[in-house]
Amino acid sequence: MKAVVIKGVKEFEIKEISEPVSDGKKVIIDVLKTGICGSDIHYWVGGAPVGLVMGHEFVGRVVDCGDRSDLKVGDRVTALPISPCGKCEACRNGDVQFCPHTWEEAVGLSLNNPGGLTKRIAVRSDMVIKVPDGVADEEMAMVEPMAVGLHAAHLGRIAVGDDVLIIGGGIIGLASAMFAKKEGAQYVALTETNEARGEKSVSLGVADEWFNATSEEIVPKLMEKTGGGFDVVIECVGNSAAVNSALSMVKPGGIVVLVGVSNEAVPTYTVMAVMKELVLQGAIAYTYNEFNSVINLIANKKIDVMKFVDDIVPLEDVQNAYERLTSGTDSAIKILVDPTK
Ligand SMILES: NC(=O)c1ccc[n+]([C@@H]2O[C@H](COP(=O)([O-])OP(=O)(O)OC[C@H]3O[C@@H](n4cnc5c(N)ncnc54)[C@H](O)[C@@H]3O)[C@@H](O)[C@H]2O)c1
Ligand SMILES: [Zn+2]
Ligand SMILES: [Zn+2]
Repeated sequence: MKAVVIKGVKEFEIKEISEPVSDGKKVIIDVLKTGICGSDIHYWVGGAPVGLVMGHEFVGRVVDCGDRSDLKVGDRVTALPISPCGKCEACRNGDVQFCPHTWEEAVGLSLNNPGGLTKRIAVRSDMVIKVPDGVADEEMAMVEPMAVGLHAAHLGRIAVGDDVLIIGGGIIGLASAMFAKKEGAQYVALTETNEARGEKSVSLGVADEWFNATSEEIVPKLMEKTGGGFDVVIECVGNSAAVNSALSMVKPGGIVVLVGVSNEAVPTYTVMAVMKELVLQGAIAYTYNEFNSVINLIANKKIDVMKFVDDIVPLEDVQNAYERLTSGTDSAIKILVDPTK
């Protein structure tokens, strides 16, 4: 079957790979939609690991139920793409994101487990979740990034009336902004270097205002506006400029949630954290419960995730979709891939 595979720096190739076969345990799924994630972009930019088939945000139809007696062929499902051991203390506490085995065999994030940029995938049966009736495939492909935003908002310990700043208006920043509002923030500002994305954060109704991150006046302006800084800043970029602006604009004693990922060292003025006695809070993925909460929020129409979907493309157009998402000027936030097209 056809798969989109990392070939080199910013380069994919379309290759034939073998179809997964039933082992009586894993669930085999025909992929209907898979999302392109900011984390996938890091792998593509770095060109490694060669041979990786990405796509950890997916929805599909069951073709083999594995050891899940509650499923039937044809059911629509999604899954947590991770591989927690289920036995360690973190797993027992429901904090699957801390398990040392969580990323080892993650679908679409490890070489031994191809993701949704192909037609058929095998997924650990205990991670598979049935799609509730009335929920569209596209909505289900959005659950994973939304769960990252929910986790970040939870870890920001946002209180009713707080001022919250989001650095970066990719899907993770927009999801964090949306949930910051739901948690009770009275003012949500967002900074971006891409004007089209900044404007979108406001037109989609998740941020109250956006500011150009390249403007020199941004720090004094926002310090004045908030009377001395934001209660919580959620950093959703991962580079040095973004982390330092988070440290600059949070108020003394405030919380900076670090969600952005970098494979390199990120030079940071730690003195700002020292002088302001900041809480630096890392955030990785989501808990099992948060993933399910997002599904319930979508099924019960409490959040609208379709507004974030810009385009749906076939496997042949994945290279072009990645180029759009990294152009720095395109307004597209989330592009889904449909391997059946
Ligand atoms: N911690 C986690 O569990 C987790 C999960 C998913 C993604 N991530 C990471 O979160 C980050 C965001 O993910 P995404 O999918 O939204 O990525 P994305 O690339 O779509 O969005 C990042 C945005 O940041 C903007 N930006 C760049 N420099 C900036 C600056 N100095 N100030 C403000 N904005 C700036 C870019 O224009 C872009 O729109 C990535 O680093 C990704 O790897 C972390
Ligand atoms: Zn993702
Ligand atoms: Zn574990």
